[in-house]
This record gives sequence, C-alpha cells and structure tokens, in this order.
Amino acid sequence: MKKTLSIIFGVSVLFFATGCEKKEEAKITYKLTTEQVYDQMCVKCHGKNGEGNPKKKAPALNDQTIQELRLGITDIKMGGSGVNSSGTQHEVMEHNMKKIIEKGMDYDTDLMAQYIHDHFNKN
Ligand code: HEC
Repeated sequence: MKKTLSIIFGVSVLFFATGCEKKEEAKITYKLTTEQVYDQMCVKCHGKNGEGNPKKKAPALNDQTIQELRLGITDIKMGGSGVNSSGTQHEVMEHNMKKIIEKGMDYDTDLMAQYIHDHFNKN
C-alpha cells in the first residue's frame, strides 16, 4: 500500500514537472467527484463552508492558500508527516484517510485543494 502510494506520488510529481496537458492522461478515475467526497466525508469535521469544527478539533480550511491546502491534503493522503499540519490530532486524519479509501472515496489531492479554495476561501 505504502509502495503504491509512493509510486502514485512519484508519478504525479513527474507529471507536475512535465506540464499540465500530460496530467490529464494520467488521471486516475475516481468513483465520486471531488465535490461529492467533500460533502460526504470532509464536511462533518471541516464544515459546510470549510469553517472548521472545534468539537472535532478540525481546523478551518477556508483561510488557507491553495498551496497550503495542497500540501496539507497531500500530507494527509500520504499518511501524514506533519509537514503542513497545524494540528496535533494527526492520527485522526490518518485513520480517516484509510476509511476514506476503504469506502471508495479516494480523491485527487490537487482537485480537492482547488475545490476547497474556490468554494470556501474568503480572502
Ligand atoms: C473525523 C474528522 C475529520 C474528517 C472526516 C476530515 N478531517 Fe481534515 N482534519 C481533521 C483534524 C482533527 C485535523 C487537524 C489534525 C491533523 O492535521 O491531522 C484535520 C486537518 C486537515 C487539514 C490540514 C489543515 C491544517 O491546517 O493543518 C486538511 C487540509 C484537511 N484536514 C482536509 C480534509 C479533507 C479534504 C477531508 C475529506 C476528504 C477531511 N479533512 C476530513 C479532522 C477531519
């Protein structure tokens, strides 16, 4: 599993470096759209408008730049190195990421960052 993830990561870095047109071809097809995944999974903890949820200790996402989101989301998806995480509840997210993938709710990290930024960022 770890190996597969690092291959996927490697490939996406490669495509990132070689330009965007190529990225289209390499796109994995996900069962659900990014929006559906957010509405079904992330909303519980991060809120309808990315405002966060103190009860779940989930930080607001609506004040983050697209770069921060991308880093944070990639980090979470890779199992969490804590690079861009402001929280200490990393295991919460790690655990949840496993569930997310188990449920077939995997998503593209760039698209997710884009989605959250475009819909919720108020800056
Ligand atoms: C069970 C509650 C829960 C769910 C579901 C959840 N999160 Fe989180 N999220 C957290 C918590 C708690 C943190 C802070 C601790 C951490 O970084 O692990 C966090 C941190 C983050 C961060 C890093 C923000 C920062 O400033 O550190 C991002 C980005 C993020 N979540 C995106 C998502 C996305 C995208 C989804 C849906 C696929 C999702 N989360 C689902 C609870 C949740």
